[in-house]
Amino acid sequence: MIDEAIKALKNKKMILIHDFNDRENETDMVIASEFVTPEIIRTMRKDGGGLICTTIREKDAKKFNLPYLDDLFYRSLDMDKSVLNSSDMGYDTKDAFSLTVNSRDTYTGIPDNDRYKTVKHFSEFINSLGNNANENEKNFGKIFRVPGHIHLLIARNNYFKERKGHTELSTYIVEKAGLIPSATIVETLSDSFNSMTLEESKKYADEHNIVLINGKEIIDDFNKTDRIL
Ligand code: 5RP
Ligand code: ZN
Ligand code: CA
Ligand code: ZN
Repeated sequence: MIDEAIKALKNKKMILIHDFNDRENETDMVIASEFVTPEIIRTMRKDGGGLICTTIREKDAKKFNLPYLDDLFYRSLDMDKSVLNSSDMGYDTKDAFSLTVNSRDTYTGIPDNDRYKTVKHFSEFINSLGNNANENEKNFGKIFRVPGHIHLLIARNNYFKERKGHTELSTYIVEKAGLIPSATIVETLSDSFNSMTLEESKKYADEHNIVLINGKEIIDDFNKTDRIL
């Protein structure tokens, strides 16, 4: 299945990733950020319905000092810090959230055309990152406004040691496909007022001819690959 998933990603297609029954137990739509189109954003909001997010590897985020939201809030919140305690989250100990962004080449930032541009420009920005942090930071500010309508997520270094979230699973597989290492993802929600069950996701995958892969297969692949990433 991993080969089929990689092939689909290389062919600019969306795949579905179910994490784990004992984690979120959610299935996200996933596409390489460089291949996002306005049509993909429309499908993500209409058929997925969750939060549309774009990932970046921690080592790339460090190149322009992109912070985790937690760290940023911790440094700057004047109110009682207990609001930042996520030990009751249930399925993980840390989230992956960073800033929200809009490309400066957008108006409100929310329509499909705008979110497409923001994702596209972010993947191009990742691809352009050099070793000079000051320069990278200035370029980031030239291209993007914060806050915005695309949620950035930072995938932990070394992938699955610290977290096994969709953030890490999707970024790993996009990197493995040899593409710009950034995925754009959204949770699939159901009309039952809950997230789609795995059964509902399988039905959606069959009906739309989309590859569905689970977290275990991706991590097994990571463990047997000689950590070349
Ligand atoms: C952001 C989320 C989603 O679950 C998304 O899949 C990324 O999070 P994680 O890495 O925790 O799975 O909460 O909308
Ligand atoms: Zn989540
Ligand atoms: Ca948090
Ligand atoms: Zn998730």
